[in-house]
Amino acid sequence: MANLLVLGTQWGDEGKGKVVDFLAPAFEIIARYQGGHNAGHTVYLQGKKIVLHLIPSGILHPDKVCIIGNGLVVSPQAFFKELEDLKALGVEVGPERLLVSRAAQVIMPYHPLLEKIAETSRGQKMIGTTCRGIGPCYEDKAARWGIRVADLLEPDVLREKIVDSLALKNRIFEAFGYPPLAAESILAEYLSLGERLAPYVADVSLFLSEQIRAGKSVLFEGAQGALLDLDHGTYPFVTSSSCTAGGVCTGLGLSPREVNGVLGITKAYTTRVGSGPFPTELKDEVGARIARKGDEFGATTGRPRRCGWFDAVAVRYACRINGVDLIALTKPDVLEELTEVKACYAYRYKRTVLKDFPSEPWILEKVEPQYRSFPVWTRSIHRARDFSGLSAGFLDYLKWLEDNLETRVGLISTGVDREDIICRRDELEKVLGEKARLLG
Ligand code: IMP
Repeated sequence: MANLLVLGTQWGDEGKGKVVDFLAPAFEIIARYQGGHNAGHTVYLQGKKIVLHLIPSGILHPDKVCIIGNGLVVSPQAFFKELEDLKALGVEVGPERLLVSRAAQVIMPYHPLLEKIAETSRGQKMIGTTCRGIGPCYEDKAARWGIRVADLLEPDVLREKIVDSLALKNRIFEAFGYPPLAAESILAEYLSLGERLAPYVADVSLFLSEQIRAGKSVLFEGAQGALLDLDHGTYPFVTSSSCTAGGVCTGLGLSPREVNGVLGITKAYTTRVGSGPFPTELKDEVGARIARKGDEFGATTGRPRRCGWFDAVAVRYACRINGVDLIALTKPDVLEELTEVKACYAYRYKRTVLKDFPSEPWILEKVEPQYRSFPVWTRSIHRARDFSGLSAGFLDYLKWLEDNLETRVGLISTGVDREDIICRRDELEKVLGEKARLLG
């Protein structure tokens, strides 16, 4: 197994950062293929909390090359801020190990403003976005107004594109009572950002193809989660990119043959930030306890996450559409304080029982989740590192999850530190082959 895709199987925040950080030693390159600085990938390193938004989580390993693919929307300001934050933590990163695709889209100052107007116009029906300009930047890409990283290096091209874009956008700002934006000041700022970005800019598709041909292996790091995917998520309450497996090919310029395995990250309960249907949501004290114990606050916006029981209907769907080979289960220890643990195996809708996930919000809002209840395991698994020491109660829960997801669990994260992880070597070897030996 050469290249592995790691992606979220729920609504994001499954703990991808930690798992990517754990797996990184087995790969030479870590590449992101979609999203932007709306993501928040948290890694704890020697007790220090590090949140990465745009730069792949593998960057914390000094010998790894990290890639920002063409499928991303890049805020140059966020990029340099993240580099500074890393430097302050003692992680030096230069262009020799961080590449940004020439074809990635650039988030411009008008994008967050357009997002504010769109969200306000939706009123009660707002998506609850991260307000980073992600959606409007992808809209411009699809509408062919987008400014790409390579454009920042060509003053004449950039000037023309900014002027053309503002001709339309300033009319929108005017209509909504905002002052128009001046092309010249944006041009000056982005040319200077382009100069700073230039050493990092590369033909990422070519670089990756050459590296793979030379025997290097790549870990593809997904952001957000399958249920936030623009096409396959709970549309319209989704993000604007392809978080699912298909996004790797379009977002990095690689053939599907280069994705050799898929690891799905799955939290032992469910969370969601922003609006949209959430069948197993707990609006009671149990949900609040899970939120407190799990520290469920958005890593990017600080917003409290909505919490609920594990939803096997949703995760089974994510496993199917992504071809998940193996699951990394995160945060099961958070459930230990409760008196019982529940997991949903089907939805009742009108007079039928649904076992397949419907992505239409009007159906998801009306379904009644069917639950199986489990007693809480008696022996704590918090910070456990060895599979053989796990209690029978937890193993029952785990077996139930595997049966219902028709997918094996190969990793169990039991705490925030890099070392708080249980590794089922036999399962990992089936997906990672020899590489499994390189891990912790
Ligand atoms: P956007 O990506 O900012 O456009 O937000 C669209 C939806 O995706 C909102 O519900 C956000 O809360 C959600 N979202 C975006 N990024 C993340 C993430 O990294 N974790 C969880 N939810 C996210």
